[in-house]
Amino acid sequence: MADQTKYIIQVGTTQAPEHIYIKVTQDGPYHVYGAPKLSQVIIEQNASGNSGRYAQGQKFQSKEEMYLCRCGHSQHAPFCDGSHLKQQVHLTETASFEPLLNGSTEIDGPKQILTDNEHYCAFSRFCDNGNQVWGEVTMHGESHEKLTEFMVHSCAGGRLLVFDRETMQPIENDEEAGIYAIEDPAIGCSGPLMVRGGVRVESANGESYEIRNRQALCRCGQSSNKPFCDGSHASVKYQDGIK
Ligand code: FES
Repeated sequence: MADQTKYIIQVGTTQAPEHIYIKVTQDGPYHVYGAPKLSQVIIEQNASGNSGRYAQGQKFQSKEEMYLCRCGHSQHAPFCDGSHLKQQVHLTETASFEPLLNGSTEIDGPKQILTDNEHYCAFSRFCDNGNQVWGEVTMHGESHEKLTEFMVHSCAGGRLLVFDRETMQPIENDEEAGIYAIEDPAIGCSGPLMVRGGVRVESANGESYEIRNRQALCRCGQSSNKPFCDGSHASVKYQDGIK
């Protein structure tokens, strides 16, 4: 196990209990430890046809150790069935170990500050909720602040953070550690594994990525920012086969 003193934890995130973590294996599945909650969630549209909420889908029995598919070929998703061996897929990690804020742009509003690192977009589209988050944050009024927080906290990939302008503290919710296989009927495909609640993700090389409340791990095998999702599942129309 990696040395805890080396971990980078995103501001506003509390790390999940140490025994819950995800190990990326070399050209293989995610090896999940500590039995975090595991289920499917479905991005449900609101009345205006935008991403409105995550509806509960199928629940899976979580175990102390499990292997989750990251090649996109398993017939038993979200679990690995060994298909990566037959497909000879290359799942080399390419993501940076730097904190996301180092690569983020900042948008100042009257009461809040939004930060955005677009390399971590998982295309869940909560940021474009009729009104776009980049505009919402610049508007005056509590309803705009609440909508900004909703969009940021719903973002699957965690590219967005929102800070209170006066205290400069991040506005965050405590989240239980969980892994959610996204289904996205509005665009007719399955999405990443959304990982919530400060779960540490350790690279195959033993180094840990920044620990964050919201992360999206690629499971279609096509991301160019592995192990994180970059939205490529939408263009390849990844189908996980979960009914
Ligand atoms: S699941 Fe989103 S890019 Fe692979």
